Amino acid sequence: MTKIEQEIAKRRTFGIISHPDAGKTTLTEKLLLFGGAIQTAGAVKSNKIKKSATSDFMEIEKQRGISVATSVMTFEYNDLKINILDTPGHKDFAEDTYRTLTAVDSVILVIDCVKGVEEQTERLMEVCRMRKTPVIIFVNKMDREGQNPFDLLDELEQKLMIKVRPLTWPINIGQNFKGVYNLYDKSLNLFSVNKTRIERDIVAIEDLNSPELDKQVGERDAHQLREDVELIEGVYDEFTAEPYLEGEVAPVFFGSAVNNFGVQELLDTFCEIAPATQERQTDVRIIEPTEKKFSGFVFKIHANLDPKHRDRIAFLRVCSGTFERNKFYHHVRLDKGVRFSNPYNFMAQSKDVIDEAFPGDVVGLYDTGNFKIGDTLTEGEELFFQGIPSFSPEIFKELINMDPLKSKQLEKGIQQLTDEGVAQLFMIQPGNRKVVGTVGELQFEVIQYRLEHEYGAKCRFDNMPISKACWITSENPAKLNEYIRLKGTQIAYDKDEHPVFLAESEWMLRMNIQNNPDIKFHLTSEFKLAVEA
Ligand code: G4P
Repeated sequence: MTKIEQEIAKRRTFGIISHPDAGKTTLTEKLLLFGGAIQTAGAVKSNKIKKSATSDFMEIEKQRGISVATSVMTFEYNDLKINILDTPGHKDFAEDTYRTLTAVDSVILVIDCVKGVEEQTERLMEVCRMRKTPVIIFVNKMDREGQNPFDLLDELEQKLMIKVRPLTWPINIGQNFKGVYNLYDKSLNLFSVNKTRIERDIVAIEDLNSPELDKQVGERDAHQLREDVELIEGVYDEFTAEPYLEGEVAPVFFGSAVNNFGVQELLDTFCEIAPATQERQTDVRIIEPTEKKFSGFVFKIHANLDPKHRDRIAFLRVCSGTFERNKFYHHVRLDKGVRFSNPYNFMAQSKDVIDEAFPGDVVGLYDTGNFKIGDTLTEGEELFFQGIPSFSPEIFKELINMDPLKSKQLEKGIQQLTDEGVAQLFMIQPGNRKVVGTVGELQFEVIQYRLEHEYGAKCRFDNMPISKACWITSENPAKLNEYIRLKGTQIAYDKDEHPVFLAESEWMLRMNIQNNPDIKFHLTSEFKLAVEA
């Protein structure tokens, strides 16, 4: 193996996703603890946007700032280099999460056994399905009175639209939770409330009929486990890595993150089956990670919180070759050479300047305004990575300038903030009216605040009666132009000058789709998910 092949084989880059409060932060921390990257619990707690802070957006921005440090956490475990990409759980930052999912090779999904599949989880899973990302599911909080595990598996299959396969199985739940049976190792991991230790209480049970099982968990639970396991073996196909890697089957683990329970099984299986750095599709060709020449893309940009410095941090995922410090790379969109003297990588709790990075790694680059999300760096080749689309926003407001003397500042500010991906900007003609689209109300407050404090521009947002924006295309340019002309101010243009239809309601959108068979309506800017009539 060449050096780069060795480095690629070592890397596991993944994201942890969940509905807020299911236990994502706790599990992340426990993975770091088991991986030896941190010594004490509580170390990554600060990356959490607390529920109590939802009305206090400055607090959220502050926490977002803190979360830069924990956006990517790298640790070494069993000769592997594991990169965890954190995703904001807060609904209003869902788009940040969607984009982070473009930079991972697999995902661990955390479910709360009491609440089951929640709204945010379904939407995140949609993105994973679209990208065929391999998913492992961790059913958390088994120490609480949750749902019957078979019902939960059915719910997972139905709502997440993916086949599941349990790899561990719980013995009882809630107050009577006794532990999990590992269906592969054929061993019993006995549960005890335990927030600090990471040792485990493992008993090998080669034969489920062994009286040792009754001794360990009691006759009734032993009987139930025997029945459950028989049912599982009968109903679910045997687990193999391939359908998991294709994104078709998700292995399921049960545990309790806060009690350090079930985490080791998860981590060990993850290391065994999760994919190393994968190839990436571009608009021209597929890029293999082993290619000699470097390529990578920016999937996240984070503003520096100090308003006096307008520099930002761009998060670059390395897709092929070796990224080197101080080397000139080709910024495809701007068609210019750029180089970085202080690129850094993210260890669990610190940032280190690095000299090189390999496919699968995420590099932090200081940026003074050169980058926007989706930007590609190469050694000269003209290409763009795909699968980094903008999604149709859900709330739309018109941006009104409140200080005519500062219109330049406002223009610059809104352009830069939307490059960062805080929100999407659309223009309506005539009059250059600016429409800002987001997935959450919070973003408007954030934008207003940042425009004023970072750019000295005052603005107001007026509500607009729009519920959906669809990118429109047609194979017949004349038909498209005619449609655009007819719809007048219901048509806006995104930052890349692509036309977008602004629909007042779902019903209105459906009518337009039905009545205009020559026009295609798309929910993402990459035009993959055409809306069905
Ligand atoms: P999130 O990042 O997905 O939003 O969730 P987080 O890890 O912060 O967990 C949400 C709450 O659930 C926390 O309680 C956490 O302690 C608790 N939790 C996590 N894992 C388990 C588990 O296995 N069992 C039980 N019973 N609870 C669990 P909190 O009260 O919000 O915070 P804290 O005061 O405990 O830190």
